[in-house]
Amino acid sequence: MGAPHTVTLALTGASGMPYGLRLLECLLAAERRVWLLYSPAAQIVAKQECDLAIPAQPREAARVFAERFRARDGQLAVFGREDWMAPVASGSNPADAMVVCPCTMGTLGAIAHGLADNLIERAADVMLKERRPLVLVPRETPLSAIHLDNMLKLVHAGATIVPPAPGFYARPRSVEDLVDFVVARVLDQLKVAHNLGPRWGKERSDPGAIPGGRA
Ligand SMILES: Cc1cc2nc3c(=O)[nH]c(=O)nc-3n(C[C@H](O)[C@H](O)[C@H](O)COP(=O)(O)O)c2cc1C
Repeated sequence: MGAPHTVTLALTGASGMPYGLRLLECLLAAERRVWLLYSPAAQIVAKQECDLAIPAQPREAARVFAERFRARDGQLAVFGREDWMAPVASGSNPADAMVVCPCTMGTLGAIAHGLADNLIERAADVMLKERRPLVLVPRETPLSAIHLDNMLKLVHAGATIVPPAPGFYARPRSVEDLVDFVVARVLDQLKVAHNLGPRWGKERSDPGAIPGGRA
């Protein structure tokens, strides 16, 4: 797979909304087209963790996100929970890749069992059946046997699980560094180039190692 042109990003109501928002920012900065979905629980978590009010109306949400992350015209589209006319609902017009970040155990379980009961679950189901990249960033602790079973089922079905588990070997100095570590691993999965932090072994071979840091 080359770098995906269009990425579906779903925000669900797990802790870790800073990961999802930073990922959205990076995808737009990398000139990807983004189709954004969010659950009602994601709206609650966004308010709690980031003091961000995501409007209930997709059109209004698109305006808020486009303004916040300076998206170009046509670069960002937001679809409602039951907008079955959205392109992501069908295998005839899927995105090149999809990420659920952060991903709740509820949404993860629903995807693992093919429920397709809302647009997020359906879009993920489409990615699996069309054998396109589906990356999940699930957050819960501790994990039950049900959670672990569902994750294994998803990996067997072709999904990639990227737990938000930042490494400390790059000596993070801020919460933003920890967030970027996780977002970098997701972008790596999507083959989207980035400079979110140094890569292991890079300093020794390349004195001009990529510095970390935010725009
Ligand atoms: C502040 C907050 C944090 C939450 N954190 C998690 C979490 O880390 N993991 C999880 O699976 N559910 C978490 N939940 C519960 C989910 O939001 C809840 O199960 C919801 O029904 C999930 O719906 P969704 O999958 O459609 O977003 C949290 C809820 C709130 C309000």
